[in-house]
Amino acid sequence: MSESRLSWLPFLEKPVPADLTEPAQVAAFELSQVPGAGFRLAPDASLPEEAWSVAQGEIRGGRTGILYGTYACLEALKLGRPLPEGLQQPLYDSRMIDCWDNMDGTVERGYAGRSLWFEGGKFSYDPDRIRRLGRLLASCGLNVLCLNNVNVHEPAQNLIADWLPKLAAFAGLLRPFGVRLMTSIDFSQPMREDGPTADPLDAGVQAWWKECADRVWAAIPDFFGFLVKADSEHRPGPFTYGRTHAEGANMLARAIAPHGGKLVWRAFVYNCMQDWRDTHTDRPCAAYDTYAPLDGQFDDNVILQVKNGPFDFQVREPVSPTFYAMPRTHLALEVQLAQEYTGQQIDIYAMPPMWDELLEDLPPQTVSAVAAVSNMGRDANLCGHPFAALNLYAFGRYAWSPAPRAAEVIRDWVGLTYPGLTADERKTLAGLLLDSRSVYEKYTAPLGLCWMVSPNNHYGPSPDGYEYQAWGTYHKANRDAVGIDRTAKGTGYAAQYPPEMQAVYEDPATCPDELLLFFHRLRYDYVMRDGRTLIQRIYDDHFAGLEQTQKMAETLYALPLPEPDRTEARERMALQLHDAREWCDIVNTFFHRLSGVPDAHGRKIWD
Ligand code: GCU
Repeated sequence: MSESRLSWLPFLEKPVPADLTEPAQVAAFELSQVPGAGFRLAPDASLPEEAWSVAQGEIRGGRTGILYGTYACLEALKLGRPLPEGLQQPLYDSRMIDCWDNMDGTVERGYAGRSLWFEGGKFSYDPDRIRRLGRLLASCGLNVLCLNNVNVHEPAQNLIADWLPKLAAFAGLLRPFGVRLMTSIDFSQPMREDGPTADPLDAGVQAWWKECADRVWAAIPDFFGFLVKADSEHRPGPFTYGRTHAEGANMLARAIAPHGGKLVWRAFVYNCMQDWRDTHTDRPCAAYDTYAPLDGQFDDNVILQVKNGPFDFQVREPVSPTFYAMPRTHLALEVQLAQEYTGQQIDIYAMPPMWDELLEDLPPQTVSAVAAVSNMGRDANLCGHPFAALNLYAFGRYAWSPAPRAAEVIRDWVGLTYPGLTADERKTLAGLLLDSRSVYEKYTAPLGLCWMVSPNNHYGPSPDGYEYQAWGTYHKANRDAVGIDRTAKGTGYAAQYPPEMQAVYEDPATCPDELLLFFHRLRYDYVMRDGRTLIQRIYDDHFAGLEQTQKMAETLYALPLPEPDRTEARERMALQLHDAREWCDIVNTFFHRLSGVPDAHGRKIWD
């Protein structure tokens, strides 16, 4: 199945793998659907004959719980684990995957090939592959797919007007797997279609959206809803009319409410035209400043989707303070599986350790839905790097049941995907994946600085690349110091957190090392908790990151992965090694040239 390798899924393919047919291993179970798409296994019942056909996606009548239960059992059997006991239910009703696919076939921030369903300005796909995709998403518990980019580019704004039957056919392919369709819409659409305005308080605009929604749900009765990026990075929005984002979102929410639709409104709003000389505007403050005052004003079917951090999917950010400020709003946590700033599916970067840290700061009950920017594309292995599918699988597991357990989830994915490796080899690979985030962080962005990537394509080092740009992304390194003071004495950003978190972040002595330069401007001779100076720590981390990448490469090269994964992983590892060296040398040289401070260990830094 090389054209459409689906990573961990081959274990669900017929014929039934031999090791699942042993009577002792096919532990008896019976599935019963429970409300909310959960399932319960009855002990001592027999394996329902339908399980295998269910696993192939032949499910009827909306019994999604049975589907999830079947996958969970097959997965447990394959991993040699006990079957899940008792009631199994997802914490969140909406477990969304946002695809940034454009109708010309490109994928914004996509690193796994072209779009799986668009090409040449129209729909173009292999229905069988889309069905398999639906099955893959369901196998890890995901249930909503947004099929077009949040930046709605020509001609995608006409998806509803011109392509509704095609949308309905696409939705039909995913339906048997309990995956519902969503589209990104353009807030100014009524004007694009010759209306005089898109003002959300205008009766004509409201009627226009209502009629639009009626048409959509008549064609696709289980359509999930609309996703909106408004007043963000030059997208149209309610600000044009002097309206708030609650007024904008509620207008759309009311149009779709009669159909049970959800309106997902992104909180990624900031001034992307900032003058770099302006020291008062601080981009991380933006989402909180815009939305916190609106808490309680959003309709019940609005989901406000907030990125995990206040910037934009950097390798290290504090959790967004907006999550703590809106208890009366349905919030969705947005993460990015596409590794835009984290190696673009060239560098190995397993996300579960990052999500564990996130969950430590953000109790799962703080949000009511989760969304991830997709890392999928037309590549045969779906996610570009053979190991990148781990992030998709893991997102599904965390979305179903958010609890810190990176090691377990990584181990399971390795076990399902590479059953041919020995137990030791699987352990080695799982260990490599578990460490990959920390290694990447060390050779790229020191101590929470962010934005040292090359502008626009966001790959590779460019320490000053974003320094004089309009995106609000500055580190202000000079010969003495680096970082932005975001305490009460600086931009005040830290005050957006609840008092106990604020107290930790305000003081460099208590602020976690990894976030030190996110919250503070410090001199290079600042002495860190471990006794090293800040500048020495920057050098040491970069050298350590490079060294660990070299070790990682040796480990990877020695692993007998199956082909083509072995070749693909090796090829990408060679690039990662090269790029890790660039990162290490360029960032160290940058700080060395500014500060004039030599490395305490006399390692080579370029003058
Ligand atoms: C990032 C990314 C953009 C994307 C934006 C978003 O800024 O670089 O390509 O459009 O996020 O989340 O909307």
